[in-house]
Formats: sequence, structure tokens, C-alpha cells
Amino acid sequence: MTIYQSFLPAAGTLDGVDLPTLAAHLPTPFYAYSASAIRNRVTQLQQALKGLDARLCFAVKANSNIGVLNLMAGLGVGADIVSLGELRRAQRAGIAASRIVFSGVGKTEEEIAAALVAGVWRFNLESADELALLQAVARRQGVIARAAVRVNPDVDARTHAKISTGKAENKFGVGFDEARIWFDDAARYPNVRLDGLHAHIGSQILELAPFEEALGRLATFWRELRDDGHIIESIDVGGGLGVCYRAGTDRPLAVADYVAAIRRGLEGYRGRIVLEPGRHLVAEAGVLVTRVIRVKHGQERDFLVLDAAMNDLMRPALYDAWHDMHPLHAEPRPLQRYDVVGPVCETGDTFARDRQLPRCEAGDLLLIAGAGAYGASMGSNYNSRPLPAEVLLDGGRYAVVRRRQSFEQMLAGEQLPQAWHAA
Ligand code: LLP
Repeated sequence: MTIYQSFLPAAGTLDGVDLPTLAAHLPTPFYAYSASAIRNRVTQLQQALKGLDARLCFAVKANSNIGVLNLMAGLGVGADIVSLGELRRAQRAGIAASRIVFSGVGKTEEEIAAALVAGVWRFNLESADELALLQAVARRQGVIARAAVRVNPDVDARTHAKISTGKAENKFGVGFDEARIWFDDAARYPNVRLDGLHAHIGSQILELAPFEEALGRLATFWRELRDDGHIIESIDVGGGLGVCYRAGTDRPLAVADYVAAIRRGLEGYRGRIVLEPGRHLVAEAGVLVTRVIRVKHGQERDFLVLDAAMNDLMRPALYDAWHDMHPLHAEPRPLQRYDVVGPVCETGDTFARDRQLPRCEAGDLLLIAGAGAYGASMGSNYNSRPLPAEVLLDGGRYAVVRRRQSFEQMLAGEQLPQAWHAA
């Protein structure tokens, strides 16, 4: 087993930037992403894939900030998108449409049409209905769309139920039998070039076995199709690589082992291999910097009330996810147990229960680690809290890549009833 490389920040500094100094310039809470750590992850993966015709398509949903996407573009990384909004972001960030794959079970006619006009590389199709729709829209536009069938390999990724996608009971993909019919019926879809396979079994996967099993099933299917004369130009192995949220406990896979499994699993396959990593590339590169509003001594527990809340980082509330936390004060302090909570009016607005931390006081800064993926991108305005700022850090410098939302921006689009229309 190769060792997994973690980029958890040394307390206080991230990518050469002193976070307390940064917090003196920016209102908390804010997200900070280390460009160096992201670059590191990307190049490490690219190097492990050397010799293969591999393409990385970053899962935009993990971190949709155009500053981060632009960093990906500069590294030759494409995008895995699931909406028109993500397409627009990827394009705005400079990711060429020819490097974009479009996934998702609910692509609408409008989205398919716009993606075809933009010239996305391929569609990962998840239902026969979608295949028929793609055929119709491509025909109308007089183009040939390239597509892969997303198969559901019925593999248990052994991760959180809410982010497991590869079991037959999940809404994603189609069974091998149905996929087989699509290929055999390809003549019925003259405007769709169905020449790819795709599978994504889940997220935050910490074991190799589920990946190996899914790869094995994909490879068996590919051989079957090949022997029957179908040309498969790309196999997309999805994303899912887990990361370290809890130092000393989470044991993520090493990239070398993951890529070795891909090489083994797809041995003999000479086409393009697509990877759709999201979390692995950005999660540990990002932190949420927040300030303690007050320490509340409750009837049974001590609460650390932060200025960040579930609307800023939803993972603990939604998945009971653990995120390591580090107070940013320099001097050592005795340890104490806290329930770490946000100001939102829900008990679920809890980042951690009974967490042992150095004693904190009002005004102290706290870093929440592992926040670079599915953090800002899942943020909301719940409790009418403006979206936080996002900052890219790079070797001692910083650039704001999203200003903190103003109240005016938060209210934009809302209006008092201007006119009542008969319905
Ligand atoms: N490809 C497809 C088709 C996906 O659905 C996903 C993630 C990815 C790639 C990227 O997976 P990753 O490499 O990031 O594991 N909000 C949840 C995670 C949801 C993942 C959804 N799909 C969380 O915070 O844990």
C-alpha cells in the first residue's frame, strides 16, 4: 500500500498565508482554498495516469467557484457538469466545451439543447428516455451527439447512504441488460454516437474493493460489446476517491493504488479513460475560517457559537460528517469539550458534538478543515444569511474569488407584488 498524502494545513497558515492576518482583512466566515494543494493533487493524479490515454474531468459540483475552475483549466483538467449553470461556470472559467462531460439523471430538453450548441464532449446518459430526447434534439440541430451509457453496476460503495449511487436500488444509471439493448438498437438513434461507458458508484469511498468490483463489471461489459463489434472509445470510471476529514482516523486510498486498480481493471482497453474526481482534488485544500461569537454555558453542555452555520457548510447537518477543527490562537490553552454550533435556528445546525478543543473565547478564530469540497457549492441563504466570501491562496498571496454577498444581492430578484395576474 502506498501512503496517502494529506494536505491538512499546519495551524494558522495555509499556502503561505497567515489566516488570522487574512481574517483581519475579510469578514468571517470565509472559505480559503490553497491553489498549491489543488495543483499538487491534480499533478499527482496526472502523473499516476501517465501512459494511459486519460482525461480528468473535475466534478464541478464539488467546488463550482470560477476561480477554482480556472485553476483546473490551467492544469488541463476538464469538467463533469450536471446542469446548465455548471456549464456556464465551466465556460466562464475557461474550460473548453470539448473537455466537458454532462452527467445527471434529470437533464432537460433545454439543457441538452444548450449543451449541444456549446459543443460539450459527451453526454453520460442515465435512461432510455434521455437517449431518445438526445436523439430528437441532436436531429433537430443537425448534429451527432456523443454519448456514454451510465451503467449502474450494483456495487455497494460502503459509504454514507446519501452519497452512495451504484446500487441497483439507486436512481442512477441503467442495468447492464438495458445498456446492452441501447447498443444493439444504436441504429434507431442515428444522431447519437453511443461509444462510451460510464459508472460512478458513490463518493467519499475509502476502500479499493468497491472500485475494483465496479471496474471488473465495466470491463466484462466492454469485452462483451467489443466481441460483438461495438466500438467503445471511452470508459469513464467516475469519481468517488475519499479524503481525510479526521486526521489519524480516516485512511484514504493512495492515488497510486487507485490508479493501479484502474490499470488492472481495464487491462487490454486502449481507448480513453475518463476520471471525474471532485472531492479528492479540492476537499483538503480548503478551510472555512470562522469566528466564535460567544461561548454559551448551557444547562448540560458548553456551546461554541460560531459565525458560520449550516447554510455555509451543510455537511455536518446533512450527513453527520466529521470535520477537523483548529482554533487559530497561537498560545497553548487547556482542552475543553464543546458542542460547536452555528447561529441558525435549528438543532441540526451543529458542526460537532462533544468535541475536544483548546479553550476558546468570544472573538477567537476557528478553522474548519476539509471544507474545499461540497462546502461553498452547497451553501444557501437559509436564515437570510449572505453567502460567505471565497479566497484563493497561492504561495503567500491571496485573491478574493467571490466577494461576500451583500444584502442587496441576496434580495435581488425578489419584489413586492407589482401586479396581480388572473390565472
Ligand atoms: N461523477 C458523478 C456522476 C457524481 O455524481 C459525483 C458526485 C462525482 C463524479 C464526484 O464525486 P467525488 O469525487 O467528489 O466523490 N455532497 C456530498 C457528495 C455528493 C457527491 C455527488 N456526486 C458530500 O458532501 O459528501
